[in-house]
Amino acid sequence: MKAIVQDRYGTADVLEFSDIDAPVVGENGVLVRVHAAGCGPDVWHLMTGMPYMARPMIGLRKPKGRVPGWDVAGTVEAVGSSVEGFRPGDQVMGLGRGSFAELTLARPDKLVAKPAGLSFEQAAAAPISGVTALQALRDKGKLRAGQTVLVIGAGGGVGTFTVQIAKALGATVTGVCSTSKVDLVRSIGADDVIDYTRQDFADGSRRWDVVIDTAGRRPLSMLRRALTAKGTLVIVGGDGGGRWTGGFFRGLLRAPIRRRHGRTSWLWPS
Ligand SMILES: NC(=O)c1ccc[n+]([C@@H]2O[C@H](COP(=O)([O-])OP(=O)(O)OC[C@H]3O[C@@H](n4cnc5c(N)ncnc54)[C@H](OP(=O)(O)O)[C@@H]3O)[C@@H](O)[C@H]2O)c1
Repeated sequence: MKAIVQDRYGTADVLEFSDIDAPVVGENGVLVRVHAAGCGPDVWHLMTGMPYMARPMIGLRKPKGRVPGWDVAGTVEAVGSSVEGFRPGDQVMGLGRGSFAELTLARPDKLVAKPAGLSFEQAAAAPISGVTALQALRDKGKLRAGQTVLVIGAGGGVGTFTVQIAKALGATVTGVCSTSKVDLVRSIGADDVIDYTRQDFADGSRRWDVVIDTAGRRPLSMLRRALTAKGTLVIVGGDGGGRWTGGFFRGLLRAPIRRRHGRTSWLWPS
């Protein structure tokens, strides 16, 4: 089958269009014919091998998996003998192991039926960003109806889902983004939008019950100033921490001893 492969870390030049063996479906797997694959920062992290702190998980000297890409939407080609709930021909969306290929293997618990109203392209853009937003708000942020939420990076992949899910959960939402995305963030339901190029959301004049940071460019001490006394800060990602730790890991070691302004929680990629 045709696939995009990479055998080393680097810039986009390490990606090659190649012929490789098709994956073989095991007893517990689902083989998906790829109609669309999503491309987010996760692909960039795996392509570059950055931040270095992630390499024990993704491969020390070269990527553990040759084919990049997780987000996928397509049709089921074959199912393992132990798999229930999927049949060949079903239209699905979710996570595959190497979705930049004609065929990808997925775990059944990482797939759902694709809603008929979504195109394959729309469906492939949703899994990682949408699930991350849901986990950040519901599981880590413990968001309840009536609370206030600040979404940093509100115009991004995870941020746009976070704004919409927070509204659906009954929160009052403030989005932080750059000037060109202010209208977009308002159009998807944010009650209030802060343009970070003009205004500092952490000047202490306002505080939120839950702060979701997807941008990763500010120190934890600054983010905590935006929290109410019992508020929760959820670190989702970002590239502010540089090559070694990335924005996601920033302040990890110092965090537990600085708790004056509520709780900090990291959403580990899963
Ligand atoms: N923990 C997990 O499970 C998990 C899952 C998915 C993603 N992630 C990570 O989360 C991060 C975001 O992912 P994504 O898909 O949403 O990326 P994205 O689409 O590139 O969005 C990132 C956003 O950050 C904003 N931003 C940049 N500088 C900013 C600043 N100084 N202040 C406020 N916002 C700023 C950008 O908005 P402007 O253009 O408006 O500047 C952009 O929209 C990445 O690091 C990704 O690896 C983690």
